[in-house]
Amino acid sequence: MPHSPGHGHGHPDDVVIGPLDLPAHVDEALAVQAVAFGLGADEVAVRRQIVLRHMSYPGARALGATTGGRLVGFVYGMPNDRSHWWSTVVEPYLRSGGHDHWLDDSFVITELHVHPGHQNRGIGRALITDITDGAAEPRSILSAIDIESPARALYRSLGYTDLARHVLFPSAPMPYAVMGAPLPLRRR
Ligand SMILES: CC(C)(COP(=O)(O)OP(=O)(O)OC[C@H]1O[C@@H](n2cnc3c(N)ncnc32)[C@H](O)[C@@H]1OP(=O)(O)O)[C@@H](O)C(=O)NCCC(=O)NCCS
Repeated sequence: MPHSPGHGHGHPDDVVIGPLDLPAHVDEALAVQAVAFGLGADEVAVRRQIVLRHMSYPGARALGATTGGRLVGFVYGMPNDRSHWWSTVVEPYLRSGGHDHWLDDSFVITELHVHPGHQNRGIGRALITDITDGAAEPRSILSAIDIESPARALYRSLGYTDLARHVLFPSAPMPYAVMGAPLPLRRR
């Protein structure tokens, strides 16, 4: 059921979290990601094809946060499949630490972004908690740029721990950390 994020920081607002038809709203979602994460027009065009492909995978799901009919945040993910590109990149890093079993029976958070004008009001926490609450898998994995960012702090507070650090994706200049958490995610 759509509902308000609730755990705000003194900013009662009318943000509603609910299922998002991401292929139909891919341009709005990428506009949020472009300003939240910093993507140029070329990267948006590349991501657009990737998002549409991802959403055709079995079990892929997306949730959106909307206010006044405008999308201000979104999350999407899917059950991990070891044959997917992301999984093949992180697998050797996880294996070297004895963590590659996290690639089985795991729900992957592929993207999570909240528009900067709406951050720090509980929307990101509500999006990732709601989408993983709907997962059949007993755990969740994701990758995040390997710096002390708001995203990394949020993931830790939800129970995600580091499974691998300094993970290099072809074509990405920054190293990533791979994190995993048992489901359901920790409530505060
Ligand atoms: C990560 C992101 C989605 C979080 O969304 P959000 O709606 O702002 O997050 P919430 O308000 O639900 O959660 C806030 C939590 O984030 C962390 N956080 C937020 N701002 C922070 C800051 N400036 N410094 C450290 N931690 C911070 C805290 O853990 C905070 O928890 P708290 O509420 O207990 O204080 C958002 O910051 C974002 O879109 N960032 C840019 C894109 C990005 O990095 N996406 C993730 C890619 S892996």
